[in-house]
Amino acid sequence: MSFDIFDKDEFLGILNTKFIGKNIIHNEITDSTNNLAKRENQNPDGTVFLADFQTNGRGRQGKTWISKKNEGLWFSVLLKPYVDIHKLSTLTLVTGLAVYRALKKIKCENVYIKWPNDIVFNKKKICGILSECSFKEDCIDYIILGVGINLYTEEFDSEIKNIATSLYYETGKKIKRCEFLAEILNEFEGLYLEWIENSIENIITDYKKACITLNKDVRIVINNSSYNAYVKDINNNGELIITKDGKEEVISAGEVSVRGVFDYV
Ligand code: BTN
Repeated sequence: MSFDIFDKDEFLGILNTKFIGKNIIHNEITDSTNNLAKRENQNPDGTVFLADFQTNGRGRQGKTWISKKNEGLWFSVLLKPYVDIHKLSTLTLVTGLAVYRALKKIKCENVYIKWPNDIVFNKKKICGILSECSFKEDCIDYIILGVGINLYTEEFDSEIKNIATSLYYETGKKIKRCEFLAEILNEFEGLYLEWIENSIENIITDYKKACITLNKDVRIVINNSSYNAYVKDINNNGELIITKDGKEEVISAGEVSVRGVFDYV
């Protein structure tokens, strides 16, 4: 079996969505699939942009996302929902839950979501999500959900080797990209339609069960400072409710990183 080749026909055969991923644009190389989706935003709702290799993979908070050739799934989903902009903050949580469920479906144990939307496997990061939105006259024009999952990496660059992992590293298994991408999108579409149509409550309930950050002492990092806090809950806006020095505070994802008190998780 070759992991170099993304088999589009096999992908479409496994995909059982109504519209997400039906139009898939696969490039061998691009700067960033999020940038590509932005340039190609005239494509239909649910289009997926996939690359074997990104020369300028981008992470949250201006960080770089290392995306070497055929070491993982680097893709972005273009979405054009008619929803209130206040709902937006929870869509990355929905995406994280879809990836989490897809990993559970292939029998990965010890997988959790680290708030807001990192997926960790044995307490190391296996997946990150970067969502970006474009507005037109105070409404959503389009959303780009960028997902990076380390699948086959055996050795990580020194700057991330203590916090990053891959599916192969944890399980010794190499799942085909076409298969795993289809599984993720199958999970995602149901959650996404529920997110559009219903209240977020049920999704947040499931998210909380999968979230490793909940009911824990953590270290909150904002810019160059940090402090310890206890995570009490996650509200229906996807925000953390923490207690710090006996007082309750609400923290939204934005510029904040949450770490374990002694470790990454
Ligand atoms: C993070 O955890 O910081 C988010 C990482 C998101 C990486 C993915 S890879 C596909 C898409 N294209 C990008 O440039 N970034 C996202």
